[in-house]
Amino acid sequence: MPAPRSLAITSGKGGVGKSCAALNLALALARRQQRVLLVDADLGLGNLAILLGQSPVRTLEEVLSGRCPIEAAVLEGPEGLVLLPAASQLLPWRPAALTTTGLAPLRSFEAQFDFVLVDTGAGLAPKVLDFAAAADQLLLLTTPEVTSIADAYALFKVLLQRRPDLEAGLLVNMAESATEAAELHEKFGQMVRRFLGAEIDNRGYIPLDRYVREAAKRQIPFALATPPPPATKALSRLAEGLAEERPALAPQGFFAPLWRQFLSFGSPAGPTVSEESA
Ligand SMILES: Nc1ncnc2c1ncn2[C@@H]1O[C@H](COP(=O)(O)OP(=O)(O)OP(=O)(O)O)[C@@H](O)[C@H]1O
Ligand SMILES: [Mg+2]
Repeated sequence: MPAPRSLAITSGKGGVGKSCAALNLALALARRQQRVLLVDADLGLGNLAILLGQSPVRTLEEVLSGRCPIEAAVLEGPEGLVLLPAASQLLPWRPAALTTTGLAPLRSFEAQFDFVLVDTGAGLAPKVLDFAAAADQLLLLTTPEVTSIADAYALFKVLLQRRPDLEAGLLVNMAESATEAAELHEKFGQMVRRFLGAEIDNRGYIPLDRYVREAAKRQIPFALATPPPPATKALSRLAEGLAEERPALAPQGFFAPLWRQFLSFGSPAGPTVSEESA
């Protein structure tokens, strides 16, 4: 079964624009005839359905627990985008559906897509690391703020310990200018090379754009606005690069590697998930 390419959008610091970037990148890819499954993996704090003005009935937590088939949880978004929402409250869950028998339907569902984009929570908690490290590629977000850069570095370091082969790129959000973004890419790349012995691709930048905030308030993705605001143009370039490039390693999809992360780095019934039975 062919596996889709999976890309996790993540950050060390919260509120840097992951959910906005994930949703609008997904739409930019969908506009390029890519079939995209967007997974909201910010457990208990799902935002993507809200940003689309939708109310989920079933959620990722229930799908992973085996309480609901994935087909019943996904929502249809604009441009043919398919969204698997997360709950907006703490739901007890266990990765029961990821065990060998439950995994097959998830793998065959994701096989219909070209890309699985995963919007994670922020920080270094196991529930963030499990989801971020499961993807084929990582899109690490930071703003030019020094605390955001430090947290992005700290997260990347931990993720490399789990996945030394991780193919990662840095996306600068809320940049005041192209020069500011270019300098940040240069410095971050040097730091990563020198202290972590790793490489990180330059995935460009999204300018600080007041329209992004306005669109979020109106629950309409800015990628759908005409004329396209500067942030849309930046994400279109990123989508074009992603759609045209061939990944270095064969895509593994998302759900099977997620299960491997749970097995390798934490007990599935342990601290990463609720102890309450599903
Ligand atoms: N390029 C941008 N220009 C201006 N505002 C932006 C930009 N990108 C994101 N924002 C705003 O920043 C805020 C945080 O965005 P978002 O919710 O996407 O961040 P997040 O990283 O997903 O947060 P969390 O860590 O809580 O999940 C929102 O109000 C959003 O509208
Ligand atoms: Mg978010």
